[in-house]
Order: sequence, then structure tokens, then C-alpha cells
Amino acid sequence: MELTQHAQGEIEIDSTEPALDDVLLTVDDLHVTFGGEKGVRAVRGVSYRVRRGETLGIVGESGSGKSVTSLAVMGLLPTSARIHGSVKFRGKELLGAKDKAMSAIRGKRIAMIFQDPMTSLDPVYKIGAQIAETLRTHNPGMSRSDVRKRCIELLDIVGIPNAVDRVDDFPHQFSGGMRQRVVIAIAMANDPDVIIADEPTTALDVTVQATVLEAIKAAQRETGAALVLITHDLGVIAGMADRVLVMYAGRAVEVGTVDDVFYRPRMPYTVGLLNSLPRMDVDEKTRLTPIVGSPPSLQSLPPGCPFGPRCPLHIAACDAAEPPLVEVDGHALHLAACIRSDELKGQDRYEAGQVFETTSEDAGLPTDYAGPPEADAEPAAAHEAQTGTEFAPPDRYHAPDAEPTAPPAQHFPPQDGDAP
Ligand SMILES: Nc1ncnc2c1ncn2[C@@H]1O[C@H](COP(=O)(O)OP(=O)(O)OP(=O)(O)O)[C@@H](O)[C@H]1O
Ligand code: SF4
Ligand SMILES: [Mg+2]
Repeated sequence: MELTQHAQGEIEIDSTEPALDDVLLTVDDLHVTFGGEKGVRAVRGVSYRVRRGETLGIVGESGSGKSVTSLAVMGLLPTSARIHGSVKFRGKELLGAKDKAMSAIRGKRIAMIFQDPMTSLDPVYKIGAQIAETLRTHNPGMSRSDVRKRCIELLDIVGIPNAVDRVDDFPHQFSGGMRQRVVIAIAMANDPDVIIADEPTTALDVTVQATVLEAIKAAQRETGAALVLITHDLGVIAGMADRVLVMYAGRAVEVGTVDDVFYRPRMPYTVGLLNSLPRMDVDEKTRLTPIVGSPPSLQSLPPGCPFGPRCPLHIAACDAAEPPLVEVDGHALHLAACIRSDELKGQDRYEAGQVFETTSEDAGLPTDYAGPPEADAEPAAAHEAQTGTEFAPPDRYHAPDAEPTAPPAQHFPPQDGDAP
């Protein structure tokens, strides 16, 4: 089935009818391509489900297709995007819905929080007026006083102090973190069933991040919504999500509960992501084991496994075909796309991560957590000679000071055997 979001179609949704198994959003084999035959294959067969009250974390490097997946769900991609697959809200197909039908769903049933609050807020209108507009759009019969009361209540829920007065402020009178909390208030204004938050804390410093995450949790508690939380930050995922979907080159390469993915990762890319974080749960200096190289071009993927050129476990068989996302040990909730997944069985992320030390050292990368990396030409040259691909340090390859959004390890859930 190939559809554009602007094809014809009505959507009738009975919100009083309970969703089957409480599943609110089902994305099935979603593909998005920009451009013609040799275009950018931004999303290549992503599937997921989210239930009422559940949080699905989506993580992956820049360009892995996280935002495009969400924009496809919201019907917000440009008309040039070729989309196929299925996106169902409460069992009703959204792909192919008319713009008018999608407008009724956006904001009311599925709300989105973007990275930069100023893309959602209009600087010339008061905060209260902007929340009120969302309320009135979907509840035209609401009285002025009820609208104002609800605006103040919403600001209060997301933690804006003295909401009664602040409701009449303009966005420039709020800090970045407060503005993002206003966006969250707008997102929850109409009691949505699904909230999609795309990097909601990336533009904020660590202390402010915590208040914004708290506001998202409050919004989810208040509405009971399913939350899809997109972030680079594995610490945020660990603290917020029930399940995790790891994306690489437009595909899901590992899916599982937070415990499965963080303690028992079975895909080398996930192992690499987890081990490129500083470790704070041990006293002695620990080594970072970053993933060398950069993601492949989505216009010309390597043969077989797209992670192959960066994978320390790569063997010739990996180039034969792209590994399917399959159950790990017959466990329906834990899936991985790697032909050598079994070899990671029984290892925690640190044990499994040792394989990356070899590639880091071979590439000449300093792996000592104590010092920031030197951006000199040598490691790049060594990497290029070894892999034939251009070296670009991964985003996370920074000392904590240089990367204020790097998650502190205490966000991780305790490990088996950890002291309580
Ligand atoms: N409108 C567009 N036209 C062409 N290519 C696009 C368009 N939007 C996104 N892309 C491409 O699709 C790919 C996936 O982009 P996407 O924005 O989903 O990445 P992401 O995982 O959200 O990255 P980030 O973490 O940087 O936000 C990228 O290669 C991007 O350049
Ligand atoms: S299939 Fe091969 S290249 Fe891909 S992640 Fe697994 S071991 Fe690495
Ligand atoms: Mg993005």
C-alpha cells in the first residue's frame, strides 16, 4: 500500500469506546522516502505500539529517522514525502486521512511537543491566550471564565509558579524551561490520548531538563496518555520510559523493556550507545568506548547490516542481507536486528561493550573518561584507513563538561546486585 497523507479519507473515532488492549497508537511497517528513485530513505519499516499510560522511548543518533517517523504519524510531512505502511489511532487508519480529519486529531487526540518551544509559541500573544486558543478550537462551547480557569490550572500542573499572574505574560517573559512547560500545558490542554515529545529537553540545561521532564510526567499522569518520548539522551529514557526502541539508519534495530535494553542489550549498536556514556557508579576512572565513524548515507546504504562498517563484531556474513528484527530468546517483547545477537547473551552492557574498546583503540581514539578528546587529524586518518569511511566523532564523544545534556549515570535504574 502506498499512500500520501493528502489522499482522501475520513476518520471516525469514538472516544468513548475502549481501545483494544488499551493500544492507542499502532505504527506498522512505516516507510518514508524523500526524493525520487534514489531518494533519502529516512524511515525503513518502523513498527511500534503504545498503550494508554505507557511511555515508549525512541533513541538513536542524529539522522536515524526519529523525527520523520513522528511527523509521519502526525501527518506533518511535506507532500513530497512518499509514505507507506500503516499508522492507526485507536484502530483507525490515519495514513491517507484528509487534512481536515487530521487537524481534528492533532492537538485534540494526538499532541506533539517539539524541541524548541518558540516553534510552538507565538511571541506576540500572551501565554494564556495561546493555551485558550487550543482549548477553544476543540471545545467551542467553553465559557470565557472556564477557559481562563483551565489555563491557570494547566500552568499550575506543569509547575509554573504563581500561574494566576503569569497567565497574562508574553513568552519572552518566561525562561526557556518555563516556555517548554507552557508547550506541555498546551499539549495536554485537550486531554490527548497520545503525546509525542520530540527532544523536549535537548535545548535546555540539565537542571531545567529535570523540571520539564517532571512537567511531562505530570501531563501524562493527568491525561493518562500514551507517551512517545524521542531523545538522544539514554539517561532520560532510563528515567522515563517503560519500553525503548533503538533506531539506526531509519530502522528499529533493538526493541525491549528498559531493563532488557539497558541490562541485556543484544545489538552491538545499542551496546555502543550505552557504553559511550560516562560511568558514575564506580569510583575509579572508567573508559569510554565510543562508536567510531558515522551513520551511513540513507541514499546509499552499505550491503547487508547498515551498522556493519562501524561494528566491532562485523563478519563477512553480515554483508549478505540486512538482519531482520527478530525475537531474542523467544521473548516477544525483546527484539534485535543482528545475526550475532546470541553471542551477546548473558553479558551486561559493560561486558558486551568491551568489544568496542578494540575499535576505539584501533582508530586512535582516546578512551579515557578523564579528558576531552583532541579533534586532531590523526584519529580521523587512522579510522579512514581502517574502514574506508569518513570519520566524524559521534555526538556523544565529549567530556561531560562539554556536553551539559550528557545524562548522569544515576538516571540508570539500579543493576542486579547493586547496593540498595
Ligand atoms: N523534508 C525533508 N526532505 C529531505 N530529507 C529529509 C527531510 N526531513 C528529514 N530528512 C532526512 O531524513 C533523515 C532522518 O531525519 P530525522 O529528522 O528524522 O532524524 P532524527 O533521527 O530526528 O535526527 P535528530 O536527532 O538530529 O533530530 C535525515 O537524513 C534527514 O536529512
Ligand atoms: S549483523 Fe553483524 S555488523 Fe550488524 S550489528 Fe550484528 S554483528 Fe554487527
Ligand atoms: Mg529529530
